[in-house]
Amino acid sequence: MTPTALAVDPQDTMPLMGEAAPSPAGPISEQELAALPAPPEIPLPRTAQVLRFSQRQIEFVFGWQRRLGDTFRFNGIVPGRPVITAHPDHVKSLFTAKPEDAPSLTGESPLRPIVGPNSTLTAIGERHMRQRKLLLPSFHGEAIARYMQMIEDAAHREIDRWPTGKPFSLAPRMQAITLDVIMSGIFGIDGTPKPGTAEWGLRTAVRGLVEASTAPGAKIAEFMNVGRDEPVGLTRIGMEILDRPTYAVIAKRRKAPDLDSRTDIMSMLMRAETEDGERMDDHELRDELLTLVLAGHETTANSLSWTWERLVRFPDAHERLIHAVRADDDADTWIEATINEGMRARPVIPIIGRRVTKPWQLGEYGVPAGTPITMSILLVHHREDVYPDPYSFRPERWLGAKPGTYTWIPFGGGIRRCVGASLALAEMRVVLRAMAQRLDLEADRPEPEHAQHRNVTMIPARGARVVARAA
Ligand code: HEM
Repeated sequence: MTPTALAVDPQDTMPLMGEAAPSPAGPISEQELAALPAPPEIPLPRTAQVLRFSQRQIEFVFGWQRRLGDTFRFNGIVPGRPVITAHPDHVKSLFTAKPEDAPSLTGESPLRPIVGPNSTLTAIGERHMRQRKLLLPSFHGEAIARYMQMIEDAAHREIDRWPTGKPFSLAPRMQAITLDVIMSGIFGIDGTPKPGTAEWGLRTAVRGLVEASTAPGAKIAEFMNVGRDEPVGLTRIGMEILDRPTYAVIAKRRKAPDLDSRTDIMSMLMRAETEDGERMDDHELRDELLTLVLAGHETTANSLSWTWERLVRFPDAHERLIHAVRADDDADTWIEATINEGMRARPVIPIIGRRVTKPWQLGEYGVPAGTPITMSILLVHHREDVYPDPYSFRPERWLGAKPGTYTWIPFGGGIRRCVGASLALAEMRVVLRAMAQRLDLEADRPEPEHAQHRNVTMIPARGARVVARAA
């Protein structure tokens, strides 16, 4: 592959990043609410809406935004009269709200029966803040720097095994890298766990279940669990398979003679005490560990897969990255720009939400206390006024422009912003660079991959299939 000229047109004076026209949003009084109309509603039966939303979220949200505007109500799986918004000012009002005014909806999402009620992801209020505070140091600055070599080793080890000259899916290969990374951070293991250990059992169970979750029939299992606190049906069986090695890992670590001096995340969680001197019990630890293992590897693996799915279909962007990396010509800038653009164009978590506990203004509309308000990351990331030519994959739009706090939101925001964002970005930088350095990749077919919706994530339906050749 030969390097081409810069894809940026130096005559192009259009600002790279735009701004949406202001739209007032935030908590209001009951009197103010009475003066505002409710957002328009999607005129379809509930079942049709739930099915369309869960199968074809992209067409659903884009289609109804075209007809109803940036803010509309839908009748979804979350109880209440949920609203979808696509406006950055509405996003800002929710991200900067007092925690008690707009608690997260994750505790009501399909993640709840899987990761339980006790994890940073699903807890709300004081408990959430306490657990979040406990985790943050393990995923910042110095801690991430310690992981860098390990990420690089895992990436090269994995790339060494890839087939050349015949199609394969990137997603499971990415998953192998990101699972090793998160497990070594949590359990303090070097590289892949040794066969026969409790950690190996957990790794095997996670890989098997992630694979099973895309099988036909998995969607039915997902639907059966909507709105439940405890898993049922196939999900229950899956969770039992996962729980066994998880509790084995916990039991083994509780007996470790060096528990007090270990620096891995699991030992730290075991030692942590509340103000009343209480420690986490096994169930609480299980919820937090599974959250970190599941949230911490699938998202990153699929984000990387989507970025390559886009790159191999946009030759200018692809060639520019390859040139930057191989010629060491501003490589960091192009890697960063490519990651920003990949996460903009294909946010792995396409929607997040809060349930407001006060009446709320959303532009020209008002909604009562108790309304679930969801922010469509997909719609925000494709606003024409913020991202001109939004359907093109153009990493160059990020040159000289930083992602906006309320316009680039693949990691959510406010007090619920993704705890693992820095780790995920570090992994993406290292893996993207290693692949661009070592491989020439091509799409196995020219047409873009559809999105498949699995639980709360949106993943490439064919796992980002490519053909690789050594560079
Ligand atoms: C590209 C990769 C990733 C993406 C796109 C992603 C995305 C997200 C999103 C959208 C949220 C919800 C934020 C909100 O509601 O405002 C979230 C929360 C969370 N993520 Fe990630 N994530 C990624 C990687 C990771 C990793 C590597 C970890 C490992 C620790 C992780 C752990 C968490 C946790 C614990 C939360 C809950 C935070 C809270 O509620 O306080 N994520 N993530």
